[in-house]
Amino acid sequence: MTLQFKPIHPIFAAEADEIDLRNVFDETMLKDIRKALDHYAVIVFRDQKMSNDEHLEFTQRLDSKLHTQTSLSVMTKNRFGNEALSDVANVDENGQLMAADDRRRMGNVGNRLWHTDASFVDPPGRYSLLLGKVIPPVRADTEFVDMRAAYDSLDSVVRESLEGLQVHHSIIHSRQLLGFEFSQTEKDRLKGAVHPLVRTVASSGRRSLYLASHASHIIDWQLPEGRLLLRDLIEHATGEQFIYRHIWQPNDLVIWDNRATMHRARPFADMTYRRELRRTTTLDIALTA
Ligand code: OGA
Ligand code: MN
Repeated sequence: MTLQFKPIHPIFAAEADEIDLRNVFDETMLKDIRKALDHYAVIVFRDQKMSNDEHLEFTQRLDSKLHTQTSLSVMTKNRFGNEALSDVANVDENGQLMAADDRRRMGNVGNRLWHTDASFVDPPGRYSLLLGKVIPPVRADTEFVDMRAAYDSLDSVVRESLEGLQVHHSIIHSRQLLGFEFSQTEKDRLKGAVHPLVRTVASSGRRSLYLASHASHIIDWQLPEGRLLLRDLIEHATGEQFIYRHIWQPNDLVIWDNRATMHRARPFADMTYRRELRRTTTLDIALTA
């Protein structure tokens, strides 16, 4: 049986045929899913009634190595006690909505900036698998942009000027932009990482801009000029034509390739409605066969 994918946006993103990923063990089928991710970069699987363990297990079948440093959970333990399962929720351990000044909200609020998961560490994130457990009765979308299409549509002179540039990514930088404060110990623990500004996604061979709100500066450039270039590129990449907006239904599992996309959460009445999602992310390392 081959799995079919239906495009849901003119340039990327698809919805998969009905399938229960808990039962997908077949390497051919897993290869098809990876191939589809190379092509579409974002894939929606509806009606995935996965437990936490099933979510973690499927992730390891898809890409073997789990990422454990994708959020600020190094500072606050999450509800599941497993750093490989991110608690993307606006409720605390007792299931109560978090207060506006709860420091744990920082992760959710910070997710409203365009970003690519775990770019502030090395290795960064490859695939992210975000599962919608409790979905509010109002729109609370996640938006995605196709960074390969954004790269392809740059002027060729601009594209050439980006060759070889390296970018420093830091979660302290992106959170400080929003006004969050960190202790010296936290700053020492979250030093950031350097990645190329343009990457080739090896499996698809396509070139892609690798940007994020975490991108703090361009190595060896004057700070203001580097920041202006990063701003220009983010502005370009987030043009309407590159955006897919995901409207959540309960039990949606959205899988995306962090090397080829950026994403962000959109605001909603989070002091009124619960929203509980869970995310796994895989390590972007070369796999030995
Ligand atoms: C994430 C994320 C967006 C959202 O979990 O990495 O960015 O809409 N989530 O919750
Ligand atoms: Mn994210």
